[in-house]
Amino acid sequence: PKRRAMKIAILNGPNLNTLGTRNPEIYGTQTLADIEANCRQKCEGYGFELDFFQSNSEGAIVDKLHECRAYDAVIINPGAYTHTSIAIHDALEILTIPVIELHLSNIHAREEFRHKSYVSLQATAVIVGLGAKGYELAVDAVAGLIT
Ligand code: DQA
Repeated sequence: PKRRAMKIAILNGPNLNTLGTRNPEIYGTQTLADIEANCRQKCEGYGFELDFFQSNSEGAIVDKLHECRAYDAVIINPGAYTHTSIAIHDALEILTIPVIELHLSNIHAREEFRHKSYVSLQATAVIVGLGAKGYELAVDAVAGLIT
């Protein structure tokens, strides 16, 4: 019998819907739709089903992480909730699948308040500072972990 396709989620937190116009010197000029298209192409190559999601609400991200219990891996850019959200930390703690934390910018080279990540405590791996390319690299990383 044919095995079901691996299913991965890419979750994006607050303000990431404004990529392309938001501080392009920090976050680049690609829109979230551009990033989604690149990730879809990558996932097709690996035969992964992709659930690409963005929300500005902490609770909606927690709900989505609960849905991810049925998935094979999660890539998450939690935006500013990275630095504040124990609820997202706890939702990640429930998951038993690989979790890649991703940031476009190098959060360690920026303001002090961005140096602390609650999400890193629950992440299998972290990608920072590689811009939009980081998303594609995260899909490659997931492929290495789940196939
Ligand atoms: C970010 C970094 C966060 O500190 C910031 O709040 C964001 C984006 C990044 O991708 O570089 O919204 O997660």
